[in-house]
Amino acid sequence: MAMISYQPPLKSLTIPPVSLSNPKPVLFRCSLSLPSRAAVTSVEPQPVFSSVKAFAPATVANLGPGFDFLGCAVDGLGDYVSLSVDSNVHPGEVAISDITGNNTNKLSKNPLYNCAGIAAIEVMKMLGIRSVGLSLSLEKGLPLGSGLGSSAASAAAAAIAVNGLFGGKLGVEELVLAGLKSEEKVSGYHADNVAPAIMGGFILIRNYEPLELIRLKFPVDKELFFVLVSPEFEAPTKKMRAALPAEVGMPHHVWNSSQAGALVAAVLQGDTMGLGKALSSDKIVEPRRSPLIPGMDGVKKAAIAAGAFGCTISGAGPTAVAVIDNEEQGKEIGERMVMAFLKEGNLKAAASVKRLDRVGARLIGSTPLDRVL
Ligand code: HSE
Repeated sequence: MAMISYQPPLKSLTIPPVSLSNPKPVLFRCSLSLPSRAAVTSVEPQPVFSSVKAFAPATVANLGPGFDFLGCAVDGLGDYVSLSVDSNVHPGEVAISDITGNNTNKLSKNPLYNCAGIAAIEVMKMLGIRSVGLSLSLEKGLPLGSGLGSSAASAAAAAIAVNGLFGGKLGVEELVLAGLKSEEKVSGYHADNVAPAIMGGFILIRNYEPLELIRLKFPVDKELFFVLVSPEFEAPTKKMRAALPAEVGMPHHVWNSSQAGALVAAVLQGDTMGLGKALSSDKIVEPRRSPLIPGMDGVKKAAIAAGAFGCTISGAGPTAVAVIDNEEQGKEIGERMVMAFLKEGNLKAAASVKRLDRVGARLIGSTPLDRVL
């Protein structure tokens, strides 16, 4: 039998703390040229659980000027993946048994065309799983095409579930790469949803080839709330990406770069007001997308008028995200934004106020192997 070659992933690197208040960004590197079928373990791992359940949070990608390179995870919303060893599934394969939640009739149960399925298959390939078949059940907590990283949450939960079932042999870098395979297929090659969905907190994608991820720590003692307002309107990521300019002029480049730098500084300093100001400042992507979301301009104005530190489109939209440092005020801002969506865009919308999710995708349940024997 042919041996599966061992291709060690590049080691994680830690860069020294920067001279801001608390922050200690951590840099991860790994090669994107990792062949999709190469196992990163030399011996096929065996399951350590008969089943697991994983959760992955919603994410806000772009954060204004950070198109495709900044994103963060938000608390309390997300997708769930349950995964079991299943002798009825062909060894080395995954079958999707069940999809529940909102609008799930739009999702394929063919694992090759499902975000969770694609990520699960990638992780199985990375681990070199050949002798165990898996059955996967997906519970969608996030609406599709909402700008809250729905596809990334499914992929992240599936990646964490497969890795966890086999003893957690892969690091976050490999799991993000598995999630990227899924994102590439369904919405575009960007990790600003899937990286924070897996890792939690704020993540800067410094480079795609090879992938370099920098964790940006928002200080734990500072208040930060995201007001998320989702209208009843779908904004498919592929369509919203097609609306973007192919080239950018120098003045806009300089402006957006400086704002993205200010945003990173604000995150590290726990400067919620500065974060909001930078989040609101995008002159390249938001102006092209905003007209495609009925009422978005008015919603942003309403958020700022109600005291929000800043407001922009979450990911590719249509959700609007505003930032504030007080939960009660966040609720008031959310109400004004909902009213603005109705008045300016004739769209019904729902608001929620969320904190940062600092943990990312995680196992939330497991069944020991011997219980099914
Ligand atoms: N950065 C991506 C985009 C995120 O804005 O197209 C999609 O959720």
